Amino acid sequence: MIKDLEELQKKAEEELSRAGTEEELLVIKTKYLGRKGLLTGLLRNITSLPTEERALFGKRSNEVKDILTAKIEDILQDIASRKRDETLLRERIDVTLPGRGIRYGRIHPVTQVSREICDIFAGLGFSVVEGPEVELDYYNFEALNIPKDHPARDMQDTFYVEENIVLRTHTSPVQIRTMEKQKPPVRILSPGRVYRPDSDVSHTPMFHQIEGLLVDRGITFGDLKGVLTFFIKKVFGEETAIRFRPSFFPFTEPSAEVDIQCVMCHGSGCRVCGQSGWLEILGSGMVDPEVFKNVGYDPEEVSGFAFGLGLERIAMLKYGVSDIRLFFENEWRFLEQF
Ligand code: PHE
Repeated sequence: MIKDLEELQKKAEEELSRAGTEEELLVIKTKYLGRKGLLTGLLRNITSLPTEERALFGKRSNEVKDILTAKIEDILQDIASRKRDETLLRERIDVTLPGRGIRYGRIHPVTQVSREICDIFAGLGFSVVEGPEVELDYYNFEALNIPKDHPARDMQDTFYVEENIVLRTHTSPVQIRTMEKQKPPVRILSPGRVYRPDSDVSHTPMFHQIEGLLVDRGITFGDLKGVLTFFIKKVFGEETAIRFRPSFFPFTEPSAEVDIQCVMCHGSGCRVCGQSGWLEILGSGMVDPEVFKNVGYDPEEVSGFAFGLGLERIAMLKYGVSDIRLFFENEWRFLEQF
């Protein structure tokens, strides 16, 4: 019987030495030390022993039980510490590696140009106002003296929301909204989004304009020329040659388009300026008397000038960008350069 006990201990120890996981250990523990285990099985036969041998057998089986229990405990701890080591190794951080850089955001080039222009005009006493992008036909066309049959009112050139509601095609409606609310003198600048159904390398269906309006007693075309010349030289440099070219807008009379000498070829003629040596950068003119009448101003008493410019176009010329769509793709390699 004692030999059976020794045999059992040896076998159990052998199995334990091969066990590698907690699960395996538990199986072995139940097999030998469990309530229906092998050791209990041997003990059940104790009655078949002579009385004088029983005490010794009981003592030995208790020793075996203690030894095996201790072994199991040891192995369990080994497994736990091995697991901990593996986790530490896996989660190790190499503090000598260089850190990951943070990519900083930037002000969008169109916003930069807008702010620059607003700053220049703020220096001349203009304040910034805004108007709605979804606009009434009245403000976008009618009050600006744009007749019902004007081609700009065509479905092809204007996004219609409803019969009398459009996405504004220019920032000029802000002129009307401002004058309706305010008596002269008026000196405002109005940046914002405008919409036209166009799409190619120089047109996007949404783009940005800045409108300017100055109304007071005794304002002349000379004031228009002086203010716009000052502004253009600030943006493009003092040496920039400027040309005022007669033009037509229904809401200004007389009207002028303003050109600067081509920033690419400096006047000798290239692809960007269509060989003309000049680039058109804004529309302007003296506020038409009809417009003053529409807002209740007396054209005999006050006069003024207005202008409108496309911000993307200015940004393209200033930074030498050849495709307007780049401004709206928000590709960081493009935006990072400004
Ligand atoms: N609104 C005109 C345009 O979008 C520009 C302009 C504004 C012209 C003010 C004259 C005066 O083309």
